[in-house]
Amino acid sequence: MHEQRKIIIDTDPGQDDAVAILLALASPELEILGITAVAGNVPLALTEKNARKICELAGRPETLVFAGAVRPLVRKLVTAEHVHGRTGLDGPVLHEPKMPLQEQHGVDFLVETIMAHDAGEITLCTLGPLTNVALALIREPAIAAKTREIVMMGGGFFEGGNVTPTAEFNIYVDPHAADIVFRSGIPVIMMPLDVTHKALTTARRIEAFRTLGTQVGEATAKLLDFFERFDEEKYGTDGGPLHDPCVIAWLLKPELFSGRHCHVAIETGSELTMGMTVVDWWRVTGHPPNAQVMREIDSDGFFALLTERLARL
Ligand code: BDR
Ligand code: CA
Repeated sequence: MHEQRKIIIDTDPGQDDAVAILLALASPELEILGITAVAGNVPLALTEKNARKICELAGRPETLVFAGAVRPLVRKLVTAEHVHGRTGLDGPVLHEPKMPLQEQHGVDFLVETIMAHDAGEITLCTLGPLTNVALALIREPAIAAKTREIVMMGGGFFEGGNVTPTAEFNIYVDPHAADIVFRSGIPVIMMPLDVTHKALTTARRIEAFRTLGTQVGEATAKLLDFFERFDEEKYGTDGGPLHDPCVIAWLLKPELFSGRHCHVAIETGSELTMGMTVVDWWRVTGHPPNAQVMREIDSDGFFALLTERLARL
């Protein structure tokens, strides 16, 4: 086997975050140095606990889970219980985790771990608001040159937003953090709504998880049954978008995705368009590209990968 890619997952679970974490845990190409939780879909006390619940579901209680920021840098925390349920992981019955939460603060873990490795060794996978990563960049700006890249679920351009007409949830919750991250010089691989809205949890795809006949397959099916009901109603589709696993899938099979290298700026001034990811798709600004903005996905290939990997847990 090739050398494993070292990753840190920053996340606010969330059913789709949970599936992303399961995909990463199931994939031998990846070495998960730690999981840092952030406030987002639900408050931090739940997201850190949810991250531990998922590690235990996967049979991986030795995974290091850290709690990070309790709220965004500037704005008040906005959560999404109407989508994810009261716990953030509504759907299956998951027992209270027994594995410990690490004592170290998630932001300290990010800084210390990235600084302790060689430049280009660590990939950050961000599945929630970017508060922890921005705080780490403020605390130790040298991590920017050390980080290989950030693979991020966030933003939307052609597809618009999902919490306001122009903003996607992860960027909207902490636009100031996103602004810091996109200006940091760390290469970003961005999985916007333009991609994730094409990765739909159709009945057939959920059934494939259920028929794995494993605890993980059953729990995944229940998580997604719950998760999709809001978006099916909203978008009138068979299934809802499965956002966050796209990040991990790109690490495993980048050929499933295509996009364009361009400049992305974050709106932090206007209340009307707060948190918009302004993508210079046609390269009209002359600003140098800071992100690989994905637009297309082979969704059958993506779900086949997901099913094959979850079967291993
Ligand atoms: C993003 O927001 C959250 O609700 C999901 O977990 C995903 O990260 C989609 O906009
Ligand atoms: Ca998320």
